[in-house]
Amino acid sequence: MEYRELGQTGEKVSAVGLGTWQFSESWGLTNYEAAKQIIAKALELGINLIDTAIVYGNGMSEDFVGRAIKELGAREQVFIATKIPGQYLSEDDVLRATRASLRRLRVDAIDLMQVHWPPCWHNFPTCEYMRALERLVSMGLIRYIGLSDFPVELAEAANACLAREQVVSLQVRYNLVERAAEKEMLPFVEGYGMSLLAWSPLAQGALTGKYTPDNIPKFEDVRAGNPLFHPSNFSQIWPLVQKLREIGQKYGKTPAQVALNWLLTTSDAVIVIPGAKRPEHVIDNAGAAGWRLSYDDWLELDQLSKSIRIRYYIEE
Ligand SMILES: NC(=O)c1ccc[n+]([C@@H]2O[C@H](COP(=O)([O-])OP(=O)(O)OC[C@H]3O[C@@H](n4cnc5c(N)ncnc54)[C@H](OP(=O)(O)O)[C@@H]3O)[C@@H](O)[C@H]2O)c1
Repeated sequence: MEYRELGQTGEKVSAVGLGTWQFSESWGLTNYEAAKQIIAKALELGINLIDTAIVYGNGMSEDFVGRAIKELGAREQVFIATKIPGQYLSEDDVLRATRASLRRLRVDAIDLMQVHWPPCWHNFPTCEYMRALERLVSMGLIRYIGLSDFPVELAEAANACLAREQVVSLQVRYNLVERAAEKEMLPFVEGYGMSLLAWSPLAQGALTGKYTPDNIPKFEDVRAGNPLFHPSNFSQIWPLVQKLREIGQKYGKTPAQVALNWLLTTSDAVIVIPGAKRPEHVIDNAGAAGWRLSYDDWLELDQLSKSIRIRYYIEE
């Protein structure tokens, strides 16, 4: 496994982490033993970054992650990242929600606490929740502070609220067909020496090659309404998937591995956190790190992906 420094913390986390939104009704993996197998496989392959959130399965994902790490005796080798949603950002709730996360995760301290999304309906002042998080660092309940789904202007303002700490990471949607993060977010994190944690790095499975224009299931999970799988978008994605397969054959790699490697090759600040529903996914995704696409192959994918125009407003 290849490791990258998280921000400027000196912490080495795996370039390929494990996303665990899958441990929820949203994705359908609600069996603890199945989740434990996925986590055990990730640890075995050197994946040490596990990303979860309070809202994933309303605590189920944190509970599964915490229980598995405890049962596997793996606390020392894992870097746990969780997230507190925008509605729990009053000073009191930051503390109360973090305490509940600590209980579910069965740890004394959370390695990375991220603000999952900015408050949009509750009007909490930015510095109120950022200073509350900083206090949690002083109290030893969390170790580092990260943000997720923040525009750069607000991320900058949030960072400026901190007196002694720094925001170490920004977690955003980033994959080969959804590259808006490259416009502002990637330059922002690079400029500040932060890390960019790329969520949905496989475009929720659209880049893996297992879904084809003739075989897009009627998803019963969170993807049911995902515009990426609408024919108007997927028909554009498909030639890219075929190119991922073709390029992968040169390296003995799968389309998913090439898609993840493309993100890792684009910037050293990037860390990918693909979700997995089976141990086989973890094995495949772990093989995305530790090698490099050639410049020509990187560029070919860059140019092909730039010709894709994903539309989120679907006219039926
Ligand atoms: N901060 C945020 O707002 C936010 C938002 C979304 C996600 N996240 C985080 O990012 C993580 C990843 O994002 P995501 O789950 O949305 O999307 P993703 O990682 O792009 O896609 C995950 C899905 O792709 C399929 N898959 C994964 N690896 C595969 C492989 N090697 N071969 C074939 N199929 C494979 C699996 O689904 P199937 O087998 O069913 O196809 C899996 O559930 C989440 O778990 C979560 O931790 C954060």
